[in-house]
Amino acid sequence: MKKRLIVIFAFVSILGGLFIWLPSGVSTKAAVRLSAKTLHMEKGQAYKLKLKNAKSSKKAVWSSSDSTVASVKKGKVTAIKEGSAIITAKYGKKNYECTVTVSGGTKDTLIVYFSATGTTEDAAEKIQKITGADMVRLQPLKAYTSEDLRYSDSECRANKEQAADSKPSIATVIKNLDRYKTIYLGYPIWWGKEPGVIRTFLSKYSMEGKTLIPFCTSGSSGISGSMQHIRDMAEGATVKAGKDLTRSSEKDIEEWIGKEAGTADSSDKKDEKTETDMRLKIGNTEVTVKWEENESVAALKEMAKTGPVTINMSMYGGFEQVGPIGKSLPRNDVQTSTSAGDIVLYSGDKMVIFYGSNSWSYTRLGKITGMDGSQLKDLLSGGDVTVVIEN
Ligand SMILES: Cc1cc2nc3c(=O)[nH]c(=O)nc-3n(C[C@H](O)[C@H](O)[C@H](O)COP(=O)(O)O)c2cc1C
Repeated sequence: MKKRLIVIFAFVSILGGLFIWLPSGVSTKAAVRLSAKTLHMEKGQAYKLKLKNAKSSKKAVWSSSDSTVASVKKGKVTAIKEGSAIITAKYGKKNYECTVTVSGGTKDTLIVYFSATGTTEDAAEKIQKITGADMVRLQPLKAYTSEDLRYSDSECRANKEQAADSKPSIATVIKNLDRYKTIYLGYPIWWGKEPGVIRTFLSKYSMEGKTLIPFCTSGSSGISGSMQHIRDMAEGATVKAGKDLTRSSEKDIEEWIGKEAGTADSSDKKDEKTETDMRLKIGNTEVTVKWEENESVAALKEMAKTGPVTINMSMYGGFEQVGPIGKSLPRNDVQTSTSAGDIVLYSGDKMVIFYGSNSWSYTRLGKITGMDGSQLKDLLSGGDVTVVIEN
């Protein structure tokens, strides 16, 4: 009897200790939720949605708003035809929803975006209207409340996440990311850079071999402060110059897509490539260049025909990157005042790319287009770069 009392006492003490240890106000009960709030898949694919933290998830009643698009049975979602449907799990008195989009499996461009208050979503929708690309909205596992976004409060959730460069969990599953070659990646600027949801996305999904086209909306900061992070995180991707689309009209966006981002379908883009096109990458950022029509550029093109021309450049003078081409090209030097974006031939065998200006005797090779002075500075003034030129 005495022994039993001691055991009971010990058990009660442990429990008591637990209660004392738990800070008041911390609930031990996690909220019931679905394993995904957004699900993007392709015809024929299946995905098992789970009702997390439910005591008896088997009691959930599953339904689809359009079972010709996506059907559901005990949480197993099957993609049937292109379109979108809402899958609902009714559990107790509550409904838990997941938006499913089914792609037709023919497109190679995807728009992926995060938008807390709808502005970036507007821009994403315009891009979709123009390109006809598939589209996915990234959903954080825990939705942001207006308190979470009150950035005048240094303790608000968004500010704390930005200060810590954290990666909040997301409740978006993209089953078929492999099939897309080009990704438009959209986000609002938070404290000068990309929000945590974007960091989570880039750490969860491989961008290897893809072309990434970042776009943002912002109060005024623009996209440049986020670009280096995006480049670093999107390992193995070609990252194009990003664009702030705040207040851009559909016409502005159409122009941007046509000129700078390339057409949505990258296979079309290859077809459209003309004889004079030469691609130039600075690090892993592909930039658009308007090449001069002269014999120096023609010789460079000949060089690039035999394989990529790699130039290891160093920063010089606080206004340029310069490096050896590996061969002398025909030159026709004239006294030139350069500005940001200019590409010139220096002493016949070196290439110079400017993010500031200088006056010297050079042969013009081309000019980087579609990037403003601060974007060019951001790209070129952070340390030595490797430039690759390809036909
Ligand atoms: C936490 C937070 C931080 C922000 N930081 C900036 C900033 O550094 N620079 C800026 O121009 N705008 C900033 N903004 C404004 C948003 O970038 C802008 O309103 C954006 O268009 C919102 O896009 P959305 O509606 O898609 O969420 C911030 C907004 C929030 C909520």
